[in-house]
Amino acid sequence: PVTTVILVAAGSGQRLGYGMPKAAVPLGGETILMHALRGIVASGVSSQVCVVLPEGDDGLRSLCDAFREELADGGPLLTVVDGGPTRADSVRQGIGALMDGIEAVLVHDAARALTPEGVFHRVVDALAAGAEAVIPAVPVVDTVKTVTPTPAGDHAVAPEMVAGTAARENLRAVQTPQGFRAETLRRAHEAAQELEPAEAAAVTDDAMLVEMTGTNVYVVRGSTQSLKITTPLDLIFAEGLLEGPLG
Ligand code: C5P
Repeated sequence: PVTTVILVAAGSGQRLGYGMPKAAVPLGGETILMHALRGIVASGVSSQVCVVLPEGDDGLRSLCDAFREELADGGPLLTVVDGGPTRADSVRQGIGALMDGIEAVLVHDAARALTPEGVFHRVVDALAAGAEAVIPAVPVVDTVKTVTPTPAGDHAVAPEMVAGTAARENLRAVQTPQGFRAETLRRAHEAAQELEPAEAAAVTDDAMLVEMTGTNVYVVRGSTQSLKITTPLDLIFAEGLLEGPLG
């Protein structure tokens, strides 16, 4: 399918603690944004890459402009748009900038700057095979429990207690790029505009919105290399990956 990758990079990066947007943070001598962009282009899956940047960030915008020059003829069209207050708003901005004739959209977090090419291919292959929505995921290694605040009298013991334990064999940690038929993604984001603020705040990925519309979301194999750079520890892992197997 003729595909756009929407690369969302408009987050503040507060948890990384660099005092700058995460996409601008250095990684292996470049920025996180450039690693993400090069990964997308190297995978060869996209006719268009739509980068969603923090509003007014001239530095990141110039990086994209320079990269556009670098792209050979026949490379993807590089479009840059401003992000919004939430991740879903940023994705919607990207959807608004899709070029004509786009059949499929991959939504990818710039924070997953080291996603291997194989993951892009598995997602696109599932779309080509007929999926309306597909996400890459990896098995969960931790035991995952839901918790609830402890009753008032037990606060001295601990602030929260276990409410239940999910069966680990059925759990997956979900990554990006998440792939969609263009119309499926558009409809899901339109429907999301009707959510109550509390419901909207609980939306952490695009697949969730598609699930709400009742459409099947298929799962393909992700990669542990596709880590989401969120904390300073993740940055250490990412630097190590660049020196090691990916080097
Ligand atoms: O905040 P979170 O970890 O969910 O961010 C995931 C991705 O979404 C990051 O790549 C971040 O730059 C992007 N994002 C965005 N616009 C926002 C918030 C997050 O593009 N308002």
